Amino acid sequence: MSVLGPLIADKRVLICVGSGGVGKTTIAAALGLQAAAEGRKVVVCTIDPARRLANSLGLTELGNVETRVPPDKLAAAGVVAKGELFAMMLDLKRSWDDFILRHAPPERRDAILGSRFYQQLSSALVGSQEYVAMEKLVELAESRDYDLLVLDTPPTANALDFLDAPNRVLDFFGDEKVRWMLAPALKAGRVGLKMFNLTGGYFVKTLSRFTGMEVLQELSEFLLCLAPMYDVFKERAAQVKEMLASPRSAFVLVTSPSTLTVDEAIYFHTLLRQNGMPIASVVANRVHQALGGAGELSPAQLDALAELLAGAGGSSSASPRERLARALHDAQLLAELDQAEVRRLAQACAPTPLISVPRFDTDVHDVAGLRDLNRHLFA
Ligand SMILES: Nc1ncnc2c1ncn2[C@@H]1O[C@H](COP(=O)(O)OP(=O)(O)OP(=O)(O)O)[C@@H](O)[C@H]1O
Ligand SMILES: [Mg+2]
Repeated sequence: MSVLGPLIADKRVLICVGSGGVGKTTIAAALGLQAAAEGRKVVVCTIDPARRLANSLGLTELGNVETRVPPDKLAAAGVVAKGELFAMMLDLKRSWDDFILRHAPPERRDAILGSRFYQQLSSALVGSQEYVAMEKLVELAESRDYDLLVLDTPPTANALDFLDAPNRVLDFFGDEKVRWMLAPALKAGRVGLKMFNLTGGYFVKTLSRFTGMEVLQELSEFLLCLAPMYDVFKERAAQVKEMLASPRSAFVLVTSPSTLTVDEAIYFHTLLRQNGMPIASVVANRVHQALGGAGELSPAQLDALAELLAGAGGSSSASPRERLARALHDAQLLAELDQAEVRRLAQACAPTPLISVPRFDTDVHDVAGLRDLNRHLFA
């Protein structure tokens, strides 16, 4: 039994992390499906899923609302769910707004939400997407009765952003200097933002492109509005961290077998470990498979074969036999290259278990595709 079996049975929170485009959203959905099949009430919080996958999960619109995936959709793909599967498409902007609505002092909410600085900063801030996704997770865990929450994460260019997100956000909301020196000074028109570039962190750097007296006054008011949020943030950031590091949470690190992403995955694995995050498994996704014999050829390959044997060779000077031999040789080579990368990954991440998932001929965009993927994830 794959290590993921006990995971979906016992954990409360699973977080799929990894480089861009490796299959985080797909694996998150697949884990949710399997957990629901086995009797748990589970919600998958996806971020920007491919449209077809979203449709097949019944997610027609963005908005932080969970939708139950209809049992007949699951049944149509041969999945008899003993539990319940819910899915949600996280709207990151809306999650920020929700956060402000919940935690800002009532008399300041509108001023914060309406400020153009808020609009700019909440979208421009590095790491803010990761942060708000985790924040949403804590909220769901606190307020709903799901047995299991599976969190997909945004495409992260740099693994550090993900772990550093709470700090960045704290910097954004709460730089002491900004609150107590900059804001009143700005208001009095005594100082421009440039001065603070020397001492200020990321926050001030982001703001320093705004200039002009009127803008600075507006900014000062915005900062004063935000000031009381600092403590809330600090507390929530601690809760997020506590939840991530909890023994009831687990990270699933997804990667493709390409050299570059394997490097990134190894780096990410080290960082997670150093930060005391519980990594349950590495998933090497879309691994090229060697062709064992004609019985294992994919439909597309069989088509190509048939075409070749029928002599529809196009303009190539090579004979069908030569071309077929070359194709098989290439496939074998790709499989060997991937295998070597997977071995390197497994060694670097040991003792974290590694699961290898083959590359399918088509995208995984529906419940049946997720079910097929689970045959490998839970082999
Ligand atoms: N094993 C697989 N075989 C074939 N296609 C796959 C496999 N796993 C995922 N895919 C496809 O790869 C594409 C990318 O997957 P997915 O969207 O899950 O990646 P992601 O890591 O969430 O990307 P992003 O970082 O952009 O959010 C999708 O079209 C998906 O259907
Ligand atoms: Mg994704």
